[in-house]
Amino acid sequence: MKVLILPDEQAAIQRAADIVARTVSGNPGSVLGLATGGTMLPLYEALAQRHRDDGLSFAGTTSFNLDEYIGLAPDHPCSYHQYMQKAFFRHVDIDPARTHLPKGDAADPRAASEDYETLIEQAGGIDLQLLGIGRNGHIGFNEPTASLGSRTRIKTLTTSTRRANQKYFESFEETPRYAITTGVATILASRKCLLIATGAAKARAVADMIEGPLSAACPASALQLHARATIVLDKAAASELALTEYYETVHPGGQDSVFD
Ligand code: PGA
Repeated sequence: MKVLILPDEQAAIQRAADIVARTVSGNPGSVLGLATGGTMLPLYEALAQRHRDDGLSFAGTTSFNLDEYIGLAPDHPCSYHQYMQKAFFRHVDIDPARTHLPKGDAADPRAASEDYETLIEQAGGIDLQLLGIGRNGHIGFNEPTASLGSRTRIKTLTTSTRRANQKYFESFEETPRYAITTGVATILASRKCLLIATGAAKARAVADMIEGPLSAACPASALQLHARATIVLDKAAASELALTEYYETVHPGGQDSVFD
């Protein structure tokens, strides 16, 4: 794992935006795996700004989001379809026909999950997978004890995840219980992964992911198996790591190493 520790959230977001921009400029036809959540909002803002100011183009890219709530139609204000429109898609030149999210309102969510996995394969697989991490160590909605061999499927959300997401809904009761999420193995099949974590609330999960045992108890620890996983952290999210001195030696200030 490449562990990049930046001084603060803003620097971490700009560093992550650099990595996305480099991927898209290097391969304008990139297949992007996209994520939602509070952490990603400033990243999408930074990418939209680079589109406006520097001409960074997403016109040739294809995207697949990690997950969607079951039971929410794409026009539901709390759906991830709407999140992506508001946070990113409408601010850049990505072709709407090439953006994909799981169909949370499908009559048969199981079949929709299988179809989603097939679509990713048909697109040639994911070049760069963006990821956040839950306080419980989830990636996508792969909650603790999710199979490390899992593919896109239905997952039941933990109470802690529903509580974390309650702020977007009217009440806890209205916060969805189920989601379609790409699996841990789907994520591991991506050619590159970029996980971003900011803030002290993520510090424990980050330490478990990077330095803990490989375990379904912390699904993000599966990234230890990924040959090209980059973790971008601010100091607060890195605060429970034991080997910080080593990460700083390899990537001083979170910048490229001499061999990058
Ligand atoms: P957050 O969510 O960015 O809103 O903290 C991250 C996640 O749960 O993956």
